[in-house]
Amino acid sequence: MLGDACPLELRDAGEQLSVDELRSRQLSLLQATVRRAYENVPHYRAALESVGFKPGDLQSLEDLSRLPFTAKKDLRESYPFGMFAVPRAEVVRVHASSGTTGQPTVVGYTRRDLDNWADLMARSIRAAGGRAGDVCHVAYGYGLFTGGLGAHYGAERLGCTVVPVSGGMTERQVDLIRDFGARIIMVTPSYFLSIVDEMEARGLDPRDTSLRIGIFGAEPWTEQMRTEVEERTGIHAVDIYGLSEVMGPGVAQECVETKDGLHIWEDHFYPEIIDPVTGEVLPDGSEGELVFTTLTKEAFPVLRYRTRDLTRLLPGTARPGLRRMEKITGRTDDMMIVRGVNVFPTQIEEQILLVEGLTPHYLCILTRPNRLDELTVQVEAAPGLADRASAAATLSRRIKDRVGVTAAVDVVDPHALERSLGKAKRIKDLRTR
Ligand code: DLL
Repeated sequence: MLGDACPLELRDAGEQLSVDELRSRQLSLLQATVRRAYENVPHYRAALESVGFKPGDLQSLEDLSRLPFTAKKDLRESYPFGMFAVPRAEVVRVHASSGTTGQPTVVGYTRRDLDNWADLMARSIRAAGGRAGDVCHVAYGYGLFTGGLGAHYGAERLGCTVVPVSGGMTERQVDLIRDFGARIIMVTPSYFLSIVDEMEARGLDPRDTSLRIGIFGAEPWTEQMRTEVEERTGIHAVDIYGLSEVMGPGVAQECVETKDGLHIWEDHFYPEIIDPVTGEVLPDGSEGELVFTTLTKEAFPVLRYRTRDLTRLLPGTARPGLRRMEKITGRTDDMMIVRGVNVFPTQIEEQILLVEGLTPHYLCILTRPNRLDELTVQVEAAPGLADRASAAATLSRRIKDRVGVTAAVDVVDPHALERSLGKAKRIKDLRTR
């Protein structure tokens, strides 16, 4: 099921550049960004000097590979405002990512940064099939997390009627969708499933609501999950990607007419794929770690920021001048190594969704009882599943055959697992280090 393409006259000029036009624009924006970072951010000046690179040395896009990477640790060490490239008084907003350990990372925006962000989010929502006049229900969290406010200003910029609900109070989410007639919902895919469960628990058919488009991101989700959501609700499920260090949501967006991965808004963000171990730049088409350099950010430019997200770069389709990234497989940090086999939660999700009677509410638990790793997958049964043992055996066999690891499967009651209002937690690692 594919949706209607955004007509050419509604697209931004930046979406319609040819590859040649784009590359030359990227080079001049990149030169300006590197210069600004060097002149205004002590970290970048020191990093460039450490490899003997002067801003004037950047003569081609390939020269970018001579610059050092930026990692989360660098941002933490400059907490809170040390990476800002403008005086603090020109920063009109900050966001922060909580981070699982230690210092949060703080990011800042000038007025122009916020303006660009709203434009890119409006572009993203349009590419997902949203139009001016739509009611847009925003259930991403509002606050320091970039999801809520990012979606909010983009939907307003597009001309939607925005319902700023944030996450939580699931019953009320259902009331508001019904009463206000939302056509678009913006939410993490895992929390959307909780909303759908709530509709069903109340005897409402999720296919009968006004919703037509779900713009899902902030966490990995699979093609199988798309099929599940689309069949259960009749909406178009499209993927949106972003990260606070680079801007927030709206760095890349899937187009509803192709649903084949996410076009990167390359007129603002320059992507590279690297080997996560050696740091070597890999050719388009290879799987590796995604790295971004911002091209237009004023307050918080980043040079070669290592996202830790794994994907591939592919040629553009619905937006031929822009490259696509494949749906994210997972983060390098979320890779479970089970007796030497690398496993991502998304691989487990794919298998769960192929087993009748199981739901995509799941948790991977890692233990090491006898000095050997054990993986247990807890997964909720669909209401009415009669034979749990057989569903568990089927899933366990599928994981062994398709993913290559032995997993114990524990089929638990519907609603037994803790639900997240935002990003789902898929791994519980109980191994002692
Ligand atoms: O999650 C921004 C966002 C909000 C994106 C709403 C989309 C929708 P952070 O909290 O900084 O920002 O987390 C960024 O989340 O590096 C990925 O690991 C993951 N992520 C974001 N979008 C996707 C996606 C927001 N579509 C981190 N698929 C990123 C897979 C995603 N992972």
